[in-house]
Amino acid sequence: MTMSPKLGVCYYPEHWPEARWAQDAAQMTALGLTYVRIGEFAWSRIEPREGEYDWAWLDRAVETLGTAGLQIMMGTPTATPPRWMLAKFPDMLAYDAEGHPRGFGSRRHYCLSHEGYKDACAKIARDMGARYAHLDYVHSWQIDNEYGCHDTILSYSPVAARAFQIWLETKYNAIDALNTAWGNVFWSMEYGAFSDIGLPNLTVTEPNPSHVMDFRRFSSNQTVAFNKVQADVLREITDKPLIHNYMGRITEFDHFDVGADLDIASWDSYPMGFLEDRSDRPEDFKHAYQRQGDPDFQAFHHDIYRAVGQGRWGVMEQQPGPVNWAPHNPAPLPGLVRLWSWEAFAHGAEFVNYFRWRQARSGQEQMHAGVLRPDGEPSPAVAEIGQVAKEISALELSPLQESPIGLIFDYASAWAWDTQPQGADFDYFRLVFEFYSALRKLGQSVDILPPNISDFGDRKLILIPGLFCWNDSIKRAMRAFEGRIIIGPRSGSKTRDFHIPEALPPEIDGLELKVTAVETLRPSGDIALEGGGAFQIWREHVQTSESVSLMSEDKRPAVVSKGNLHYLCGWPNALGLDAIFKRQLNELGLPIYALPCGVRRHDMSGHILYTNYAATPEQIDGTVLRAAGVRLIQKSSGKIIIKE
Ligand code: GAL
Repeated sequence: MTMSPKLGVCYYPEHWPEARWAQDAAQMTALGLTYVRIGEFAWSRIEPREGEYDWAWLDRAVETLGTAGLQIMMGTPTATPPRWMLAKFPDMLAYDAEGHPRGFGSRRHYCLSHEGYKDACAKIARDMGARYAHLDYVHSWQIDNEYGCHDTILSYSPVAARAFQIWLETKYNAIDALNTAWGNVFWSMEYGAFSDIGLPNLTVTEPNPSHVMDFRRFSSNQTVAFNKVQADVLREITDKPLIHNYMGRITEFDHFDVGADLDIASWDSYPMGFLEDRSDRPEDFKHAYQRQGDPDFQAFHHDIYRAVGQGRWGVMEQQPGPVNWAPHNPAPLPGLVRLWSWEAFAHGAEFVNYFRWRQARSGQEQMHAGVLRPDGEPSPAVAEIGQVAKEISALELSPLQESPIGLIFDYASAWAWDTQPQGADFDYFRLVFEFYSALRKLGQSVDILPPNISDFGDRKLILIPGLFCWNDSIKRAMRAFEGRIIIGPRSGSKTRDFHIPEALPPEIDGLELKVTAVETLRPSGDIALEGGGAFQIWREHVQTSESVSLMSEDKRPAVVSKGNLHYLCGWPNALGLDAIFKRQLNELGLPIYALPCGVRRHDMSGHILYTNYAATPEQIDGTVLRAAGVRLIQKSSGKIIIKE
């Protein structure tokens, strides 16, 4: 089996004169593009007034793109309800945590709990499906656009408040059960009826964490339910793949749950925007990679979304030049657009679509680069995209293989530690990402695994950082697994109801260990480890009769080990993780690769890809790889097939 990934682009025919469409389509195919995604924001042109449809322009756009040889990824336009929808449903707006409605005038202003709006979404999805799904040109369907972007999962609207009460009543049945589960005797918070329960915002001081955690679960479930309405409608009409385009570092809903109702996962990759806008890296790191993006952030999301799509995934939007939304928006180094594309393929992407075809001349994103400039002439990305198109059409790529290393990623743990960080710097995404990044620097490929996995397969090493609460499946998987497991910090430290386990954490079968106290550390308060590096942010005091395989310099256990189980009693910094992982990989006989700083190794079954994110040329295997260069090697012959 081989992979033949394809390229595509996001296009908005409704933004450009119809006379230009055919030329755009011809240029897309000439550039080597296969896919074009359209439609996802076009509701006001499809249905300008309620019930009054204008399909004619979209019919002609579909026909023009399709007959030019492009395959259409059709978006349902539900992320941008037109203004008349708000007049029809004045209570459809999402509310922020301060209790303010989020107004019309951009996008995603709807509350996911609004039943009337959900019905309207079902209707437009059904109408679009009925009109276009049967066409050969139409390849797949994107439902909505980027759930969670612009903070749009948690809504504190009156509609959400009522839906939350119903959700709680279904979950607990009796109010006493809820009072017990939430521990409401604390501060006299006991409720007499479900209808008394409000949302956990606008409280005088922090709300009860069990209350917040249920609200987070509810909000995630509402996202799943919102998506499923359209998925169900489209399933009745077509068996073409259903897709959603997720985002970078959004953890407010469980992507595995949404993904279970879809066929392909995709995400929107803006490497430089993300490094500026949502990274914990220090300033010198951001400076070094300002025109490249973080060498691990893209791969991490590629691997997450491969798991969310159960193997099928792609990049729905790829940054082609400066974006408009980060604090600073430099241009990428020459070569990056090609590097990002190749990196996605090396992690198994079926497609990479560039966002957007032509830079808009009006509206919020007029300063966001496109493949074409606002005047319709090529931007610097064109040459690189053309090069990638030629490269992928000339070769068959080997598929991915299962990695010997698996890393658990759990959205509910992100909610839990967001609810109760216990220190300003404790962040679940950051914790898992730092584990991932430390392994990638040692040349390892890592599979991301969901938290309810019941079998770790033939892997050699499983990592479970910060999993707030055990579930039966993972416990079974841990018992049956013969490879090594590294657990913690903070894993198993709460019950599902958000209580401290009576016997004290971490409650790991086969490991006699109790966390007796925890502390969070100031940025200047790192605790050195005897093997190199330090604990940062979080550290635990433990009681154990098991062997201690690493101590901190203040003479407390740092790693407790028994058989294949290893427990980390803190959050190691980059040097600490490097030392701990090197030792573990050596003991497991897994090869460690000495890579220059910005270089990463991407392992496929028959190929290896090297990417150089550094702004300087680097040496790999005795030959120079230029800044922003890629090198693809065939494993069987050792031959370099794609250079520089
Ligand atoms: C994505 C979004 C696109 C566009 C893009 C700009 O978040 O899906 O519609 O806004 O960002 O970078």
